[in-house]
Amino acid sequence: MSTRSDRRPLVSGNWKMHHDHIEAIRTVEALGLRMREGRVEDVDVSVHPPFTDLRSVQTVLADRSLALLLGAQSCHWEDQGAFTGEVSARMLARLDVKLVIVGHSERRLHCGESDEVVARKLGAVLRHAMTPILCVGETADERAAGLTEQRLVEQVERAFGGVAPAALATCVVAYEPIWAIGVGAAATPEDAAAASEVVRSVVSKLAGKSAAEALRVLYGGSVDPENTASLVGADGVDGVLVGGASLDPEKFYRIVEGARALR
Ligand code: 13P
Repeated sequence: MSTRSDRRPLVSGNWKMHHDHIEAIRTVEALGLRMREGRVEDVDVSVHPPFTDLRSVQTVLADRSLALLLGAQSCHWEDQGAFTGEVSARMLARLDVKLVIVGHSERRLHCGESDEVVARKLGAVLRHAMTPILCVGETADERAAGLTEQRLVEQVERAFGGVAPAALATCVVAYEPIWAIGVGAAATPEDAAAASEVVRSVVSKLAGKSAAEALRVLYGGSVDPENTASLVGADGVDGVLVGGASLDPEKFYRIVEGARALR
């Protein structure tokens, strides 16, 4: 059975709709070189730029042998077809994308993504041998009504319902309480630990204890260099999913260092 020490920490930068491809090249070069200087080998670090940046970033990472994993922010579940404006998981895999965020609350809210759509996307990511980062989290109203646990259970069950246990063990779940995103005040390490426990108990029911212990759980929402170490120090939390603070390579590097400090 895996224990926490078998789970490699993961620090992921969700750039959202920021940085064009020129800015993206500069950002990953600066970050990758900083990581080389700091000899970061014990933490997985991914960047998730907009679709238009992916090819440029892929080229920079390969040409300069930078130890960053390429990620995407979403995908379509079909491999190809009449889906104007969409990008398939297959296309992302062809660009060496390794991790894909699915079910981010901004997509659930602004693009109407249901739990069913999230499940289909997650299946497509796994089918193309990439790692999904499934985002789950409650609104402020749900939290106030005492519905946090119920919401997390529903989201995790619906996303993972059809996934085989061996595949489920390779997935990543990011607990991102919606009320803590982009506000400058993160949830507490206790909140993050409690959510991680809920996620693992659902996964344990769906796929068994060893899958639940192998799966990585991240925290996301107003992560910065100052609060990273305490969040990553929370029980069952294996890393962070970072929005705003991932756009600046120096700031993001300090977050990577914060996540390393505890290992
Ligand atoms: P912030 O770090 O800007 O709060 O964003 C969190 C997030 O949504 C990452 O996916």
